[in-house]
Amino acid sequence: MNVLVTGGAGYIGSHTCVELIEAGYTPIVIDNFCNSNPESLRRVEVITGKPVKLISGDVRDGVLLERVFSENEIGCVIHFAGRKAVGESVSMPLEYYQNNLCSTMTLCKVMAAHGVKKLIFSSSATVYSGDNEMPLHESSKTGSCTNPYGWTKYMGEQILRDIAKADPAWSVVLLRYFNPVGAHASGLIGEHPNGIPNNLMPYISQTAIGKREHLNVFGNDYPTPDGTGVRDYIHVVDLAKGHVAAIQYLMNHTGEGVFNLGTGHGYSVLDMVKAFEKASGVPVPYVITDRRPGDLPACYADPAKSSEVLGWKAEHDLESMCRDTWNWQKKNPNGYDD
Ligand code: NAD
Ligand code: WQD
Repeated sequence: MNVLVTGGAGYIGSHTCVELIEAGYTPIVIDNFCNSNPESLRRVEVITGKPVKLISGDVRDGVLLERVFSENEIGCVIHFAGRKAVGESVSMPLEYYQNNLCSTMTLCKVMAAHGVKKLIFSSSATVYSGDNEMPLHESSKTGSCTNPYGWTKYMGEQILRDIAKADPAWSVVLLRYFNPVGAHASGLIGEHPNGIPNNLMPYISQTAIGKREHLNVFGNDYPTPDGTGVRDYIHVVDLAKGHVAAIQYLMNHTGEGVFNLGTGHGYSVLDMVKAFEKASGVPVPYVITDRRPGDLPACYADPAKSSEVLGWKAEHDLESMCRDTWNWQKKNPNGYDD
């Protein structure tokens, strides 16, 4: 079955293409490379030994999508395409609303016109309200997002929920990712942040390789065991496998399904530093600084529903998340620019 993968050249998309191919699916990627490099897909071809069909273009381009759906028999769609930097979304709200919401609406319109009504959407733990108790269940409260990026995910979910309600032929799976980290064990594909990383793991690995002087730890006075922020880090290969599991569900259900993709374990910033130092054998100097505005003390999933309904469970531990990140970083100090 052909699976249209929007944003398939990106970090999570490229790893998902590998797992799709290994599970016998044929990914067809559409990407405009606003935050990625086509080299990632060439490397997916090296890992899998299979060619990957790539359409270079924007998901908001309805004419292009018409052509893609007319020329290819698409069984379902995984919609990764979107912008994802929280801070940038605060300074460029229109770009975020325009890209993340218009892409979803254009895509669904063309899908419906071609009778393809099966979609997996990249949502995020960021849709949960900050006042929930941990762990987060799919039924925990959502909304009260603290930035435009978060609202695009919240609104994207709502748009898809409404589409599935209006037409019972639709099947929509909303996957709420926690904190994806790590890389493919080959070290051929991984995360390639543009400029200074916003997220913890790429910042740690760039510090370890000497590109950054030290890590700034954003606050050590949270009500957590060591005072630093606690998150649910999930290996990107586990996350990618979650999408393969979601396809099975998509094929056998209609309506809306929402699932957390996390491990259920919370690790602090200092746990991450220690685990990375152990896996790499390299010290990661750090400095405690002020809290980052908008950060929560802790955020971790209850992944029970994904395990019960999708039959999916994260398998990689913290050691393999750190080892694979370091392997990718060492082999590609400048990401795909090398
Ligand atoms: P990424 O930036 O590496 O990948 C996104 C891809 O989409 C990129 O290749 C980019 O070029 C492409 N793209 C963006 N807008 C496009 C458009 N209009 N048309 C065509 N291509 C477009 O990000 P990622 O980390 O792989 O994230 C994938 C998805 O998962 C995103 O929707 C993101 O919001 C969501 N998500 C990511 C995280 C995370 O921490 N990485 C967590 C939760 C949810
Ligand atoms: C993790 C922890 C920081 C960087 C973000 C988005 C979320 C989702 C995943 C897309 C926190 C601390 C970080 C640093 C630090 N993305 N930290 N120094 O904030 O949990 O989630 O990415 O949907 O929407 O908000 O991830 O990696 O930025 O931070 O101390 O240089 O590391 O304070 O406790 P976060 P993160």
